Amino acid sequence: MNYQDAQWRATQRIRLDINNALAQNCGPEGLQAADLVAGATQATTAVAAVQSRREELGWPTLPYQNVDQIAQYAAQVNAEFENFVVLGIGGSALGNIAVQTAINGPFYNLWPREQRKHPRLFVLDNSDPEYNTLLFQTLDLKRTLFNVISKSGTTAETMASFLYFRQALVESVGEANLKKHLVLTTDPTGGFLRQIGQREGLTMFNLPPKVGGRFSVLTNVGLLSAAMTGVDIRALLAGAAYGDELCKEPNALKNPAALGALVNHLLAQKGKNIVVMMPYAQRLKDVADWFAQLWAESLGKKVDRTGKAARVGTTPVKALGATDQHSQVQLYVEGPFDKLVNFIAVENYTESVTIPTAYADLEGVSYLGGHTIQELIQAEQQATALALSEAGQPNITHTLPATNAFTLGQLMFIFEMQTAIAGELLNINAFDQPGVEAGKVNTYALLGRANYEQRRAEIEAKIKLLDPQWVI
Ligand code: PA5
Repeated sequence: MNYQDAQWRATQRIRLDINNALAQNCGPEGLQAADLVAGATQATTAVAAVQSRREELGWPTLPYQNVDQIAQYAAQVNAEFENFVVLGIGGSALGNIAVQTAINGPFYNLWPREQRKHPRLFVLDNSDPEYNTLLFQTLDLKRTLFNVISKSGTTAETMASFLYFRQALVESVGEANLKKHLVLTTDPTGGFLRQIGQREGLTMFNLPPKVGGRFSVLTNVGLLSAAMTGVDIRALLAGAAYGDELCKEPNALKNPAALGALVNHLLAQKGKNIVVMMPYAQRLKDVADWFAQLWAESLGKKVDRTGKAARVGTTPVKALGATDQHSQVQLYVEGPFDKLVNFIAVENYTESVTIPTAYADLEGVSYLGGHTIQELIQAEQQATALALSEAGQPNITHTLPATNAFTLGQLMFIFEMQTAIAGELLNINAFDQPGVEAGKVNTYALLGRANYEQRRAEIEAKIKLLDPQWVI
């Protein structure tokens, strides 16, 4: 991957095709070219607004950071561990999973060490007793390094998993060896995780305080697990930097993030309240999951920046092509006109698989022979896009020349920028998450955390009012 070469970089440019979101191709549910031209002024202003806040937001400058420390640490501990476990949730987990699946593929953990050359990766992003126990039963803790990731250093799910595995480590490797098996990623100054790390002398990586969880995949949050599993993190960042260049284009209609945001914005105004993200590549399955959090948490807001009631945001739905053609596409084609389907297509898959020729007498099978599986999945993506637009359902396609660290970094950066610009178009704060905080506070109250007594009393009073006749 020669990402230092400008010519090579140009071959890896992700393309955005919005033809199928235009009325000329999908009928009255689509946009007129004139709508886009009219909206471009607002989108151009939105691009400038986000660009003017680069330093304040922090995440736009991440592609240019120095990652020597992370790379050195990963190289240093690589041989010692068979397993690398991330304990984190939301923005402290989804990017890690997406990068892992995209670059190392879905079966990496099953490969022998000689093939992987790096530890296996597990991401425990839930507080589920069965999940915890099953993971515990799966791992040899003596050969396991845990990366506890929490920006706030207080999230209940993550801290509970940390306490569980810390205890398990004490029993397995002994308290004196704990340090060797734990590495923390958290805020450089605040939070309980930082305090614990300091008290116990644990290795810690900082998270830039300005960068919110869902924009943190290119910080130490996502980079450490990526480096630990052999992902070329410099290529990932080079791709993000390339995406950044594309997103600096002031003409919104030529800027992939701005055009994506504008199409979403205008279609939301036409009642498309659901945004389906549907990659046609198994490797990119978890990118849809990562995108869902980015989009939902950033744009789902009750008030605008002036405090006025807004209740905005379109609902992300994750799908996978071609799998979900046999599950959800019926609804996308014939259901209500309330969706914008985003396809992610891949031009060149890393593997070429030719379908063998057989059963010449059975035309329903024999036509496949001699084609490649790449041709099949690409035909399916094009066919579904066409079926949707012919049914009047707007859709757009992001095409990756290939799936690699460079294009993944580029794609993630463009989606982050698209989300930020969409926030500008809605005039909301895309970088807070009061709805998530509310749930966290309720959890603390229910579990009896100090200083949450009043909230607990309020919740108990509400529970008393619930009518048992409606629980059947
Ligand atoms: O995007 C967000 O802010 C959230 O999804 C957080 O990432 C998530 O709640 C975990 O928070 P923390 O990293 O503080 O444990």
